[in-house]
Amino acid sequence: MSEIRAISWVSDGLVLIDQTKLPQQEINLNIETVDQLVDAIKKLAVRGAPALGAAGAWGVVIAMRQAVKEKWSNEKRNEEFLRIRNARPTAVNLAWGVDKVLPFVDQGIDEVLAKANQIAAEDEAGNRQMGKFGSSWIESKVKNRPIRALTHCNTGSLATTTWGTALGVIREMNARGILKHVFADETRPLLQGGRLTAWELAHDNIEHFVIADGAATSIIARGEVDVALIGADRVAANGDTANKIGSFAVALACKYAGIPFVVVAPESTVDVATLTGADIEIEYRDENEILSLNGQRISPAKSKGLNPAFDVTPAELISALVTEKGVYEISNGITPGSKLAKA
Ligand code: MRU
Repeated sequence: MSEIRAISWVSDGLVLIDQTKLPQQEINLNIETVDQLVDAIKKLAVRGAPALGAAGAWGVVIAMRQAVKEKWSNEKRNEEFLRIRNARPTAVNLAWGVDKVLPFVDQGIDEVLAKANQIAAEDEAGNRQMGKFGSSWIESKVKNRPIRALTHCNTGSLATTTWGTALGVIREMNARGILKHVFADETRPLLQGGRLTAWELAHDNIEHFVIADGAATSIIARGEVDVALIGADRVAANGDTANKIGSFAVALACKYAGIPFVVVAPESTVDVATLTGADIEIEYRDENEILSLNGQRISPAKSKGLNPAFDVTPAELISALVTEKGVYEISNGITPGSKLAKA
């Protein structure tokens, strides 16, 4: 089965799958300027925290090349680095990716490109590792087999350099033969679950049901789910986790039903400088994403929309955080700001 690569450096250029068009059309975007990259990030042509980390790092290469071509001053070039870094606020990986390569700018484009390529390679290796840790942890806790998993948003190859975080664990459980099926929350308003997760699960021939976001609570409460897994955009030192809007509701339902709620994210998403979830900036997006569907206005002209793109799930609702280093058993008081449990 061919691997999905939503963001890659191909033939000396940055290539993205335009995720706004999936699953109807598979169109590549060749990114050559900072404007093109920032636009792609803002409209979610490239999205998902780890993919944004790679976009940030490769974005610095794009800006450096453009600086040479258009004879920018260093000041202008540095402003463009910042424009990439700040294109979206909640996923810490975007700023992390830019910051990781900035110290190499004085050594030239080739050096920065090598570091960006390394970030992408490490993301892929980390995802495979998280898949193994997460799958083993779930096997040790969940006695119902085969396992019925629920996930929210898209955390797969499209949201990373390949394989995925929470969806990577689901892929690993499928490979181990312990997965029954997956419930994919459709994830309003931009339908990352109904469009993107479903597309990836179909690609891998994993049995799945797309469900309305509002259906997740009762499906979990009825005992039809054994574990819920999500990714993260930022994990605070105490374990509070920002992720796609609607994640908090899934966590509450899991607590009610007494099943594990698992966050899967690389260490680059863990931001120990942010002490609690209250300090995480939440992105508010255009109200028209809520008021319209497929470009068609569905709410009355007088209605206003409110569109927070993320919520923060309190650590007390999170059973475990799986990273490439191991498993933080948050429900046992092991938080990123304290120490890592034995993997
Ligand atoms: O707005 P998006 O689509 O970028 O939001 C993505 C999410 O919330 C993901 O769950 C998160 O970034 C983790 S991706 C491995």
